[in-house]
Amino acid sequence: MSKVEKPISQPNELFFREIRNDFSIFQKLKLVYLDNAATSQKPNCVLQAEQEFYERYNANPFRGLYELGEHATTQYEQARQTVQKFLHAKYPEEIIFTRNATEGLNLVAYSFSNYFFNDGDEIVVSIMEHHSNLLPWQQAAKRTGALLRYLECDQQGKITEEALKNLLTDRTKLVAITQISNVLGCKNDLKKIAQICHERGIVVVADGAQSVPHIPVDVTDLDIDFLVFSGHKMLAPMGIGVLYGKKRFLEQMPPFLFGGEMIDSVSRNGAVFAPIPHKFEAGTVNAAGAVALARAIQYINHIGFEKIQERETALTVLAMEEMKRIPGVHILGAEDPNDHHGIISFTLEGVHPHDIAFILNADHIAVRAGHHCAQPLLQHLGVSSSTRISIAFYNTEQEIQTFVKSLRQIRRKMGYGESDIL
Ligand SMILES: Cc1ncc(COP(=O)(O)O)c(C=O)c1O
Repeated sequence: MSKVEKPISQPNELFFREIRNDFSIFQKLKLVYLDNAATSQKPNCVLQAEQEFYERYNANPFRGLYELGEHATTQYEQARQTVQKFLHAKYPEEIIFTRNATEGLNLVAYSFSNYFFNDGDEIVVSIMEHHSNLLPWQQAAKRTGALLRYLECDQQGKITEEALKNLLTDRTKLVAITQISNVLGCKNDLKKIAQICHERGIVVVADGAQSVPHIPVDVTDLDIDFLVFSGHKMLAPMGIGVLYGKKRFLEQMPPFLFGGEMIDSVSRNGAVFAPIPHKFEAGTVNAAGAVALARAIQYINHIGFEKIQERETALTVLAMEEMKRIPGVHILGAEDPNDHHGIISFTLEGVHPHDIAFILNADHIAVRAGHHCAQPLLQHLGVSSSTRISIAFYNTEQEIQTFVKSLRQIRRKMGYGESDIL
C-alpha cells in the first residue's frame, strides 16, 4: 500500500513507519509482536553496538593494563554515565550493572536486609508485585525474622495514600513497590509514596522494569532510594540490567556476590572490598551488554519520551476501544486507557488464556498468557490467569487491528454462537 492510500490516524504515523525499518526482525518474520512487556525487540543500532564492542574494544574491563583493556573499561564506564544521565542520578557510582531487574532486587533484598533489618521489623510490598519484587523479600523476611506485609490495591489497581499510611508502623523499615504493574499497566505515584515513607524514615525500593522503557524516570525528583530495570525490556540485549541506589546506602551495604573485581585487597584472612559501584559487580562484567544498553538509551532519547508516550497511548486507546466491542472480553484494571501504559490484560468468557494465545499464534500474533509472574495479584483480583497484550512504540495501528480481528473470531472458533455469552 502506498503512503498516500494509508490513512494517517495515529500520531507521527510517518515517523513511526520509518522507525519500524530499524527493527530487522519485522522484515524477516511475519509477526505481530504484542509481548513487549516480556521483552522488547531490538533495533539494528543496538545489535551493531554490541557487535562493535566485540569487534573493536573486546578485552576484560579493569583487568588488561594494555590499550585495548583501557578502551573496554572506558566504553563500560561511559555506558554507566549514559544510564546515570538517563535516570538523573546524582553520581555514576550509584549505577550498578546487573543481569536484570530480578538480580537488582535480589541484591537489595539480600544486602540491605542483612545490614539494616532486625527481628520484628516490617517490610511492605504491594500486592501487585511481579514475583521478582516479592520472593526476594519473602526470603529476606525468613532470614532476618522481619514481617512481610501487603499493600492492597482495588480492582482498578489503585493504591490509596490512606491504605499506605494505615499499613506503616514504627517497625516498617522498607517499602518495595513497582512503578507500573506488568498486569494492569497502572502507575503508582512513587514521588508521593517516597514522601510518605521518608517522613517516617522508611526506605523505598522501586521496580522500574515496566516504567523505565516507557516514561521518563527521574530518580532524584522521585527521591526513591533504589530502582531497578532490565535492559532487554527497553531495546537492549538480554543479560544486562541496572540497579540504581542512593550512594549513602550502597556504601554501607555489604556485597552480594564475592570474587574478582570487587576487592581492593585480599589476604589469607579476609578482604577489603572495592568502593561502589565495583563492590557490587563481582566477576567479569557484561561490558558489551552495557554498551548496547547505552546505545538503546541514545535511541530512545533520539525519539523522545513525548513521542513514545503519545504513540503508545494512541495504540492502547485503539486496542481498548476495539476490544471492548468484542462480546465476552473483560479487560482487567482501569477503564481509562491512559492508566494502562500499553498493558492490557483481559479474559474472554469460556476460553482459557492458553487457548487464546495458541489461536492468536496461528495468526502469527505473539501475546502472553498465564499468571504473568504475579500470582498474588491475580488471586486478589479473583482470576486464575489472563491474556496480556503489551504495546511498544514500534507497533502499528494495523497490528492492533489484526489482533482485534483474530480475537473477535476466537469464541466462534471454540464453538460458541453469537448469543452464547455466559
Ligand atoms: C514489573 C516487573 N518486574 C520485574 C520483572 C523481572 O524482569 P527480569 O526477568 O528481566 O529480571 C518483570 C518482568 O516481566 C516485570 O514485569
